[in-house]
Amino acid sequence: MATTKDYRLGPNAFPRGWFMIAEDRELGDTPLSLHYLGRDLILYRGTSGPVLLDAYCPHMGTHLGKNESSFVVQDKIWLEGDSIRCPYHGWRFGADGRCNQIPYHDGPIPKAARIRSWPVRVMMGCIFMWHDPEERAPDYEPPFIPQWDDPNWVRWELDHLGTLPTHPMEIVDNMADIRHFDALHGSTVSYFRVEFEGHRYIQYQGGGHRTLTANDVMLETVTYYDGPGLLISHQYGSDTVLQFICHTPVDDGVVEVWHGLLCQKSAATPPGDDRTWARARQAVSRTAFVQDFEIWGNKLPARSILTIRSDGPFSKGRQWYGQFYQPADRQREIQRRLPATATCRGIPASREEALGDLAQSAAE
Ligand code: FES
Ligand SMILES: [Fe+2]
Repeated sequence: MATTKDYRLGPNAFPRGWFMIAEDRELGDTPLSLHYLGRDLILYRGTSGPVLLDAYCPHMGTHLGKNESSFVVQDKIWLEGDSIRCPYHGWRFGADGRCNQIPYHDGPIPKAARIRSWPVRVMMGCIFMWHDPEERAPDYEPPFIPQWDDPNWVRWELDHLGTLPTHPMEIVDNMADIRHFDALHGSTVSYFRVEFEGHRYIQYQGGGHRTLTANDVMLETVTYYDGPGLLISHQYGSDTVLQFICHTPVDDGVVEVWHGLLCQKSAATPPGDDRTWARARQAVSRTAFVQDFEIWGNKLPARSILTIRSDGPFSKGRQWYGQFYQPADRQREIQRRLPATATCRGIPASREEALGDLAQSAAE
């Protein structure tokens, strides 16, 4: 297993950004005990929405979420409004993580009676947390896909693909790695380029694909990372779909992955049961993704890559990803230094260029 340090990404072990931590439907009326980004966390549903706090009480270190036998839990005074009560001595903490009641004490509450609270957002059935090792507020929002609310599209039911003993760097490498498309996915790439825009990393590519599109129908994709852990891929081929992949560090060098597909209805969509149809389409998409997964789950870490000139622009992709492991000023510096575009030697950069090459070889 390799860690952030092995990839020389930056001083912070965990990246800054929005990360998936649960599906909204997984959060019932008791707190969920989670572990992400190297921390034990509790997630509970307050009256104003989900609240995410570090798991341990500052009084004597009790885990606020792991209890069944206390009378705090049995008497159902564990959760009150947006607050959670510690099962050991009953101290109560608000959504901001500050202690707002000590049942047996009427003096002032010490300032140190505070737990770290993390910003959360709920959208598209997912709960996202904002992680910043320096506790800066979010400077962008997690992406919302407008097709989620469009009745002409069928929503995903997320695949929980579990954890991999893999650093997320290896997953992000996939964006630059156009040369694995043929061998692994059976794709014949016609064009490819990537673009860098601050916290976004966008890949444009098109070509044939053995599993995701019909024979002779080009599959064109626009795929982008919105920050370090959320990927959206618009895919236009024999049908139109939107793939959503989330990967969240669990510990340094271990990552958890979710996958979903939004499917646009078409004349081919069976009337009445579009959910079954969309689930089957998502399964096809998952099969292609699992081809990557099988590699990641069994490979050695590529701490450095034996890059040849005809490989994709790995080093630029790694530079882009490294920004999330840096303090704010250094992050901006990396963003400034990145080129707007990177390509791969031997592959046209755009559809137009690919078509031009084709026309030229036909004329010769
Ligand atoms: S350990 Fe939490 S209130 Fe005492
Ligand atoms: Fe891949």
